[in-house]
Amino acid sequence: MMYDYQDALAYSGVEEAHPGGHSLTKKILKNERINLGSTVLDAGCGTGLTSAYLARKLKCKVYAIDKHQQMIKIATTRIKKDKLPVKIINGNIEKLPFPDDCFDYVIAESSTIFTDISKTLKEYHRVLKPSGVVIDIEMISKESLQREDKTSLQQFYNIKKFPSEVEWGQAFKKAGFKKIDILQVNSILQELEDYNGKLSELNERKELQRTDPQIEEILFEHSRMMMNLAEKLGYSVFRAVKM
Ligand SMILES: C[S@@+](CC[C@H](N)C(=O)[O-])C[C@H]1O[C@@H](n2cnc3c(N)ncnc32)[C@H](O)[C@@H]1O
Repeated sequence: MMYDYQDALAYSGVEEAHPGGHSLTKKILKNERINLGSTVLDAGCGTGLTSAYLARKLKCKVYAIDKHQQMIKIATTRIKKDKLPVKIINGNIEKLPFPDDCFDYVIAESSTIFTDISKTLKEYHRVLKPSGVVIDIEMISKESLQREDKTSLQQFYNIKKFPSEVEWGQAFKKAGFKKIDILQVNSILQELEDYNGKLSELNERKELQRTDPQIEEILFEHSRMMMNLAEKLGYSVFRAVKM
């Protein structure tokens, strides 16, 4: 079987697979009005860490969706073990299986970039209630990123676009969002130091599940690319409101 980056993430069991990690998620969510009465969609939920946090700490109703079978398996195990009220769905965020106007929040953590961005943002907009909010943590390309580097990244991630912060903003606008704020911008360089620290911690505790040398190779290639391009990449936290 030929694995891609998404498979490598899923089969290695890396949690918090988004820039900023779980600590950034908690910091952002603390400033939002999410409570018992809120309905939240975790779009591209991965291993379900954020979904579990939302249900356990903020007591809201959570729907978690991902298209990767292995991610769904890990998320389901987590949610069942903790007996949390999270509905997990194996599905595509480009075509959300929900009616219009049903969520107070959509949280997307480094998942939108792996999809047809304009389709997915329109879907977030459609399923949000009026005044609903999307929070999306995404990688951005900086001006210094050369065309050939962008092409390599797109090929590695198997994505069509690697937008700049401005292009992300335009995409939210085009999807119908009216108030678009950027809550935080960071460099990937800082991110890398934190991530490498976490990986070696997991390695020491032998908690990384490595199933295939091909997966090791993909994760190694990813780290190598990030090191080389760290100064030309960043990530932003977008907060957009459906009016
Ligand atoms: C980088 S991981 C982030 C996972 C999780 N949000 C986190 O922060 O740990 C990207 C996730 O998006 C999911 N994904 C990618 N494209 C998707 C799509 N079209 N529909 C649903 N999920 C998708 C992948 O399966 C993967 O779990």
